[in-house]
Amino acid sequence: MADTNDINTFIEPYLVPDGSKELNENLKSMAASFAVTDDKIREIIIGFHESMKTGLDHDDDNALPMIPTFVRGRPTGKEKGTYLALDLGGTNLRVCQVTLNGDTTYSLVQQKFTITQEAKESHLWDFIAECVGVFLEEHGLIPAPGERTIPCGYTFSFPIFQTSISSGNLSMWNKSFTVPNSVGRDVVNLTQSAFQRHHVPVEVVAVLNDTVGTLMTSGYSHPDTQMGIIFGTGTNAAYWERMENISKWKGEDRTGEMVVNLEWGAFDNATRVLPYTMHDNKLNRKSPNHGLQVFEKMISGLFLGEVARNAILSLVDQRLVFEGQSSEIMNKSYTFDTAYMSQIVADDSSDLHVVKTVLESTLDILPTTLTDRLVVKNVCGMIGTRGVRLSAAAMSAVLLARPELMESEISVGIDGSMYQFYPNFEQDLYKVSRVFLGEDFVDNRLKLHLAKDGSGVGAAIVAMTVDRDRSI
Ligand code: BGC
Repeated sequence: MADTNDINTFIEPYLVPDGSKELNENLKSMAASFAVTDDKIREIIIGFHESMKTGLDHDDDNALPMIPTFVRGRPTGKEKGTYLALDLGGTNLRVCQVTLNGDTTYSLVQQKFTITQEAKESHLWDFIAECVGVFLEEHGLIPAPGERTIPCGYTFSFPIFQTSISSGNLSMWNKSFTVPNSVGRDVVNLTQSAFQRHHVPVEVVAVLNDTVGTLMTSGYSHPDTQMGIIFGTGTNAAYWERMENISKWKGEDRTGEMVVNLEWGAFDNATRVLPYTMHDNKLNRKSPNHGLQVFEKMISGLFLGEVARNAILSLVDQRLVFEGQSSEIMNKSYTFDTAYMSQIVADDSSDLHVVKTVLESTLDILPTTLTDRLVVKNVCGMIGTRGVRLSAAAMSAVLLARPELMESEISVGIDGSMYQFYPNFEQDLYKVSRVFLGEDFVDNRLKLHLAKDGSGVGAAIVAMTVDRDRSI
């Protein structure tokens, strides 16, 4: 087995046999800069623990936000009823009618709306109201005059500081959203006002982060779920914490547990521990939330392709690939989609024809040699591997924060495009975590589950617990 504490393990696989000395020297230093050795992960886990502890104690810009979510009851699998759920993600808005069958199973009818650039920059609240209106209309859910409004659970995939189960102030935008006049304001209020303007008869009874939704959905089918994670366009996690550890909680009842939203994308905003490369710094400097969400920028789908584009272009500029020629498409930010990385890394053909198609047909780079394609595959591999190792580091850190739970079986609910589509992501999460969580625990007691559509279903579960007798 490769020694994952030896930096050469992260360099040798990425050198190219037919490449020039100069090319391989460059690949070598690039691979070293993206390497995350076991010792580095240990350092990251310590950093996570310190930051979690501070964040549970008080709000601190340099620590993890550790947001109390007001969610205190674990799902039992017996919840029953039909609820409306809204799931505002980074790419899509999903409107769902969720039926919880009361026997750990559920079904849902959903409609997905791609969030337009205009909505991301300005008219988000009206856009949401319009989409919900369309859904109610198309599914015959508009209540008759005099009938009560429809209760709804609302998953909001951005950081909000919750003030109750049904209200929360937006702390900042990320994932390239920049809707004005929203930061610091209650997102439920903003949405509810748009419903009123558009005569949409819906009342938001619960608002939750998508990781909380994922945790609840997974808990509905697997009651031993302790953690919900999103590895998607963005990344984050929520877990069950004992109330006595949430020192900053000002509420009266300090017994039992509450779900805490870590907002782990913000880990190391003070830039002390993570392995930053010049390609990360370039991305960070040009992003609207410069200096924030630095961990997210190393592991989530919105950003990995852009880090890879920066790294590949650095080789182009030194005339080490593509004969020094880029293309108009490749020169534009965010054109190298993370989905291409997944296709490229998975291409095991001898002529790397999938890589060729992505480079030549999609990105308009002409012509490529086999060495060019191998270099691109290797650069994507280095960045993807770093992402998976950092993802495993974060998951391990959170589980290690409650070691008593690791004596029994634990389920972790996970959703998101990286987890679903990046080659071997789940397998590598298990593999990397074994080193830090122990082989016995990972092989015998840790279960990672895809909580597909978790955020929508979770919203319905939380809405139900808030509003037990008002299903639609
Ligand atoms: C947001 C989190 C969210 C995560 C996954 C991050 O950008 O800050 O609130 O849970 O993305 O969608």
